[in-house]
Amino acid sequence: MEMMHGSRPRRLRRTPALRALVRETYLHVTQLVAPLFIVPGINVRRPIVSMPGVENLSIDQSLVQIEAWWELGLRTVLLFGVPEHKDAVGSSGTDPEGLIPQAIRAIKAKFPDLIVIADLCLCEYTDHGHCGVLSDTGEVINDATLPILAAGAVAYAAAGADIIAPSDMMDGRVATIREALDLGGFADIPILAYAVKYASAFYGPFRDAAGSTPQLGDRRGYQMDPPNVREAIKEAMLDLDEGADMLMVKPALPYLDVLHQVKVACDVPVAAYCVSGEYAMFKAAAQNGWLDERRAVMEALISIRRAGADFIITYHAADAARWLAEDGR
Ligand code: PBG
Repeated sequence: MEMMHGSRPRRLRRTPALRALVRETYLHVTQLVAPLFIVPGINVRRPIVSMPGVENLSIDQSLVQIEAWWELGLRTVLLFGVPEHKDAVGSSGTDPEGLIPQAIRAIKAKFPDLIVIADLCLCEYTDHGHCGVLSDTGEVINDATLPILAAGAVAYAAAGADIIAPSDMMDGRVATIREALDLGGFADIPILAYAVKYASAFYGPFRDAAGSTPQLGDRRGYQMDPPNVREAIKEAMLDLDEGADMLMVKPALPYLDVLHQVKVACDVPVAAYCVSGEYAMFKAAAQNGWLDERRAVMEALISIRRAGADFIITYHAADAARWLAEDGR
């Protein structure tokens, strides 16, 4: 039967120009954030096996890497430290002369306009691999962890970090960090809270890269339970009350519904972190010829924007920047 009238959505899909005219969501290179894993030493570029194309870099090599990213139009990096020295309380993470403060100084000296986000957590710096300090019975003690995080935040801000991003999931850490930053003379430095961070299997490759797998137990006592979304809104609201300037949802693709709800409920910029395991899935499928990496990744990134992310942390940042440039957008 022939349709005489009525809606024919295909009319607006007929040509590339028509599709562009009615496109609802865009991805811009400035909305992409590239993570960097900093290691001690000089001239170190160490591939991460489970994250093809991503390397652990010494500070000098990270400058080389950033130069290339800058050329592609990327303007924001997220720093992680992979230190030599680890102990029970993560001292190397709060040392004002530690790896990350050194990296921040070197990066900001060479690229003053680059936005440097410093991830703030203890798990890369503790010998037990947990995100906080442990009790005798091996439990992560919330309130004893807070001053350590605050010290780290001040050390990173003093080194020149533009944004502090706590990823530990301790209760009350945003308030503690905000107060420490304000008292330290860093009232202008925003906090990007990993507000909604799930206890996810998708962090596996990151833990290889950062050597931060818990020696005993797991992170389910402090990271969120995957089935929960009401709790995500609660976490987001608490972090806002405590002074967070921006919120993050992590991982991204398995949690697009959560991302959307956080975006609707909260009147601040919301970031999504497309994590190591998500990257590894794309890479593995692409390497097998099972997926067209470019199309699959760009589809995933636009879906993360469509769900509500203002910006996206992704190991595909450089690839996506290149693809966007090729597309002429
Ligand atoms: C540290 C931290 C993790 C990630 C970011 N910050 C790992 C974890 O919680 O175990 C994961 C990022 C990724 O998988 O790409 N707390």
